[in-house]
Amino acid sequence: LRKMTEAELYSVYKGVYLPTHLHPAESLKYCEEFTFRPDDILIVTYPKSGTTWMQEVVPLIVSEGDLTPVLTVPNWDRVPWLEEHRAILLNLEQRPSPRIFATHFHHHMMNESYFKTKPRVLYVMRNPKDVFTSSYHYYGMASYLVKPGTPDEFMEKFLDGKIMFGSWFDHVKSWINAEEKESILYIFYEEMIADLKGSVEKIAKFLGKSLSQDVMEKIADHCVFKNMKQNKMSNFSLVPEEYMDQKKSEFLRKGIAGDWKNLFTEAQEQRFNAVYKDEMKDVTFKFIWD
Ligand code: A3P
Repeated sequence: LRKMTEAELYSVYKGVYLPTHLHPAESLKYCEEFTFRPDDILIVTYPKSGTTWMQEVVPLIVSEGDLTPVLTVPNWDRVPWLEEHRAILLNLEQRPSPRIFATHFHHHMMNESYFKTKPRVLYVMRNPKDVFTSSYHYYGMASYLVKPGTPDEFMEKFLDGKIMFGSWFDHVKSWINAEEKESILYIFYEEMIADLKGSVEKIAKFLGKSLSQDVMEKIADHCVFKNMKQNKMSNFSLVPEEYMDQKKSEFLRKGIAGDWKNLFTEAQEQRFNAVYKDEMKDVTFKFIWD
């Protein structure tokens, strides 16, 4: 994979770059024809915003703190990405409700059944400077992605949306402007860092689950970074090194808010701020990092 060119590694789907290796044409077709149920739970993120974390938290809320699903099933089968090649193999039609899925799709990429059924959505957002930083390290270790180059080079691609799943700005704007707001819970990575138990409580409430304080405590404790990092079913250690070289950078890398400060030069910060300001000029939504 590492020898492939950018054109070979990526394909364009509904105007957005996708790594072809993970999202072959038959997977995208499967996704287009997928039938949602009203009680499905969808974790929607721009990559590197806390997807894996939610793939741990939400199953534990649904299981009311029973650790079995997160200790026995890899995160990608426990909460499969609908657009990924594995989804076809998992017999998702037969899964009992509530089914839990993940997707990195922008709002306009969702299928007809989504707009008709309006399943519950947890939309997780993270400071884009930290998304950039996390992505920079991830692109360096995942062989199915185009190498990031220097931070300057990768920043231009990031700001221009010339990376997998396109522009962070377009992604976030598409979901915060969704019409079906009553079925979406907007949540920030940074608020989960600041108060994980509070976030568990908020998500449980949205999902209509009433959990005891003890159970919420147990879930939050299991899902803190250092504990989750030990979970083989969630730390991507089952992925062969030829796809993810975790000697270069671990998938569960640092798990903090504000790591961008260790990467950005002052010039890069200014460049990022200028594009952010322009891209977000018409947005009234309040972000935790502003
Ligand atoms: P870093 O690279 O900044 O460490 P995604 O799952 O969407 O790809 O996002 C990956 C990012 O979420 C990584 O960020 C990873 O470390 C972080 N993450 C995963 N689980 C976490 C947890 N329990 N607590 C804090 N951060 C977590």
